[in-house]
Amino acid sequence: MIKQAIIPLAGLGTRLLPLTSVFAKELLPINGKPGIEYILDECIEAGIKEIIFIISKKKEMIKRYFYNDQFYKKIIKRKKDQRIIKEYKKILKYKKMIKFVYQDKPLGTGDAVLKTKKYINDKFFLMLLPDDLIIKKNCSKSMIKINTRYKCSVMASMRVNKKSVSRWGIYKLGKKLNKENYFIKNVIEKPSISNAPSNQAVIGRYILPKSIFSKLSKQKPGKGGEIHITDAIQSLIYEDNKFIAHSFSGKYLDCGSMQGYIKSTLEIAKL
Ligand code: G1P
Repeated sequence: MIKQAIIPLAGLGTRLLPLTSVFAKELLPINGKPGIEYILDECIEAGIKEIIFIISKKKEMIKRYFYNDQFYKKIIKRKKDQRIIKEYKKILKYKKMIKFVYQDKPLGTGDAVLKTKKYINDKFFLMLLPDDLIIKKNCSKSMIKINTRYKCSVMASMRVNKKSVSRWGIYKLGKKLNKENYFIKNVIEKPSISNAPSNQAVIGRYILPKSIFSKLSKQKPGKGGEIHITDAIQSLIYEDNKFIAHSFSGKYLDCGSMQGYIKSTLEIAKL
């Protein structure tokens, strides 16, 4: 079973400016609860025991959110408010599971993953991109089951509008395992419409093998000058490592843009 998850949180959040000029987008409330807590709850429910946050100096607000013990203790002593006690206990539960590592330059998701190298113990680990919320069905849990069964990497997949392929990592799918799962033949980061091998996109849930670190340490910057996890995955696939695309059944919400963020709030309020 997979026990460790990593969450890249050092991104600048330019799609949510001007808010993100002073605020960490992952702490923005979605129906009263910070977005990151939905991601943490998904991990916990999927059986994850340790979560590594990759932050930057600019995103230290995230660390402070989980490390504000003195503040809570003082208030609780004075007020004995049950709601505050409950919230503090929840924060403590999360805090126990989280480790922080730093990525000081936003060099891309691949570079962020590389920062966690010395903390990963097992053959596989989970990565969740915090902009991508998946509700109604625990995608990580389903993917962990697939990993346990097939002993290989798994990535979340969703059909997108053909016109939007250049916004996503795009799969070339191979052999069908069953209705929801296919082997991946190739994956291309943000291709043009004419170069896209399909309209099946990568969504931010990945079960990656530890062997990805040696690929990442040699990897040259790709699209937009960034080190992409997609490119390292492509190298592993070329070397015959098995990757499965899992077409998840939950509902995808994009919290990384203002329009998506507003829609997410409305969708979650309906649950
Ligand atoms: C990242 C990945 C991309 C994936 C997307 C899903 O892109 O690089 O392959 O399709 O997440 O949200 P970003 O959103 O960081 O541009």
